[in-house]
Amino acid sequence: MLLPVLLFAVVLVDSSQGYVFFAGGRDGWVLNPSESYGHWAERNRFQVNDSIVFRYEKGEDSVLVVAKKDFDSCNLSHPNRRFADGDSRFEFERSGWFFFVSGAPGRCEAGQKLVVVVMAVRRPRWPPVSAPPSLSPTPVLPPAASPPSETSDPATPPASAPSPSPKASARPPAFPPIPTGETSVPVLSPAPGPSESAATAGAGDHSGKWMLRIATLVGDLDRLWRALRALYHPRNFYVVHLDREAPAMERQALAARVANDSLFAAVGNVVVIEKANMVTYRGPTMVANTLHAGALLLKQSKDWDWFINLSASDYPLVTQDDILHAFSSLPRNISFVEHTSRLAWKEEHRAKPVIVDPGLYLDKKTNVFWVSQKRDLPTAFKLFTGSAWVALSREFLEFCVWGWDNLPRILLMYYTNFVSAPEGYFQTVICNAPEFAGTVANHDLHYIRWDVPPKQHPHVLTLDDLPQMVSSGAPFARKFPRDGHVLDRIDQQLLGRANGSFVPGGWCVGDPPCSEVGDMAALRPGKGAERVARLMNGIIRSNKFAENQCR
Ligand SMILES: *[C@@H]1O[C@H](CO)[C@@H](O)[C@H](O)[C@H]1NC(C)=O
Ligand SMILES: *[C@@H]1O[C@H](CO)[C@@H](O)[C@H](O)[C@H]1NC(C)=O
Ligand SMILES: *[C@@H]1O[C@H](CO)[C@@H](O)[C@H](O)[C@H]1NC(C)=O
Ligand SMILES: *[C@@H]1O[C@H](CO)[C@@H](O)[C@H](O)[C@H]1NC(C)=O
Ligand SMILES: *[C@@H]1O[C@H](CO)[C@@H](O)[C@H](O)[C@H]1NC(C)=O
Ligand SMILES: *[C@@H]1O[C@H](CO)[C@@H](O)[C@H](O)[C@H]1NC(C)=O
Repeated sequence: MLLPVLLFAVVLVDSSQGYVFFAGGRDGWVLNPSESYGHWAERNRFQVNDSIVFRYEKGEDSVLVVAKKDFDSCNLSHPNRRFADGDSRFEFERSGWFFFVSGAPGRCEAGQKLVVVVMAVRRPRWPPVSAPPSLSPTPVLPPAASPPSETSDPATPPASAPSPSPKASARPPAFPPIPTGETSVPVLSPAPGPSESAATAGAGDHSGKWMLRIATLVGDLDRLWRALRALYHPRNFYVVHLDREAPAMERQALAARVANDSLFAAVGNVVVIEKANMVTYRGPTMVANTLHAGALLLKQSKDWDWFINLSASDYPLVTQDDILHAFSSLPRNISFVEHTSRLAWKEEHRAKPVIVDPGLYLDKKTNVFWVSQKRDLPTAFKLFTGSAWVALSREFLEFCVWGWDNLPRILLMYYTNFVSAPEGYFQTVICNAPEFAGTVANHDLHYIRWDVPPKQHPHVLTLDDLPQMVSSGAPFARKFPRDGHVLDRIDQQLLGRANGSFVPGGWCVGDPPCSEVGDMAALRPGKGAERVARLMNGIIRSNKFAENQCR
């Protein structure tokens, strides 16, 4: 049978170059639209000079523009504006929040109301970053799950991480170690020049960027905001995702905060995924979400080196200047994926069960369900498992996202029915791809403290853990309580971050400090850079690098 398909897009542009939105789409301004107004507003992106048109039966209804408190309480007594002509057009002349309610009695209470957040500036979603300095690490934080799928690994605890102390060995280390002294590092060191080790980097003009992908729990907006500020560097890219569990208002509020932040707006390197994905605890939808964020980054820019996924309960232990400096000397092809092939109890409990993730096809969140039949262990490839926290090289992410080799796609389909897919997908792909197996570093860049024996979730970190966090050399730690002295202490002692502001770095100028971007290439690495370099010496610049690969 022939199925002719015609696709077309119509964009209405008026003289002032604004878009015209029709409230509620096809249904118009009615009592019970087929798509809720909250959902409709969330699908659209409103900018200054756009207009919204309300269509309804003249005489039957009206539109009131009201203040937030009157919106909340459906108080119709003193609207800012009132329209009743049946085809009412309202132009957004400023950014911020706009509240619309129906003027017909009882309808506001029944839900005929609409909130719109208008973005501050009309700009492409992902403006080019100005002349990139020649440095490289590109952290990207992927979205976190809701609730975050812990990387818990009761039988094979975090242990497979190589010890940070490089041991003398017969074989030469894969890469020459960077000397790290105990003394504090000079302030204001010049940005490293184009890295000769950037074999695949072409001109070597990568600016240091990570992609930050964060997904968080309901009500976690403030925590996410704090982590974002602690992790921010103008050279990195950040993709932020609040999953579908978060109320639409919260996602809009996050987008509005990002759009309204003058520094984020000026640099344009923080992107909020506004069309939220459904993400199920332990389900494959988390992997889909991570790949989605990765695909977004690859599409927007090739100018970054590592894709890192974090959640709102993660926090950095070193400054971004430290990370950029320490990573600038690493080969760009290294991916950090903690892994092991010793599945142990996971063989029975992860690899053999077959699950279905309703997040793939239902629009309400429910838990994964188990199919009664079990399946055999695979023989077409070897299974690996490990930490769900990964830092992937751009090359490897391209391999996974583009799928010119069928392996990443086949494994994605296999993991669709796998319990805790995020703890195995990237591990199994990288170790079964000969061209990438030699690039995997067996570490997840996190300090995570497990119970002995490990339970489902790791310890919530407290002040007592601070010395171990620091001595681990890990750039990130998890998981942290929503509010705790430990984060304040990390801000104070490790990051030098003042309450509410960014972590000071070489890029900071303006008054107050870091309110403007100066020289993005200027790095001021401190003690944190030494700690990370020591860790890297242990992981990558030692013979352990190859010994710990894919075993
Ligand atoms: C909105 O339109 C006015 C008038 O056409 C124009 O001056 C202004 O720059 C526009 N604002 C934005 C943000 O596009
Ligand atoms: C509506 O708001 C006005 C002004 O704030 C107030 O005087 C009035 O009592 C409110 N009405 C209701 C029903 O809350
Ligand atoms: C934007 O920021 C200003 C002050 O910095 C604040 O008054 C305003 O409410 C913010 N707007 C939004 C939409 O968050
Ligand atoms: C990425 O990060 C989230 C936390 O935001 C985590 O739950 C998820 O499992 C991670 N890993 C993968 C492979 O998606
Ligand atoms: C990774 O890059 C380094 C340095 O650029 C190179 O020497 C090495 O051969 C590469 N490794 C693989 C497995 O391609
Ligand atoms: C700054 O810190 C104080 C005390 O820890 C806290 O009460 C306050 O809310 C913080 N302010 C901001 C803007 O985070």
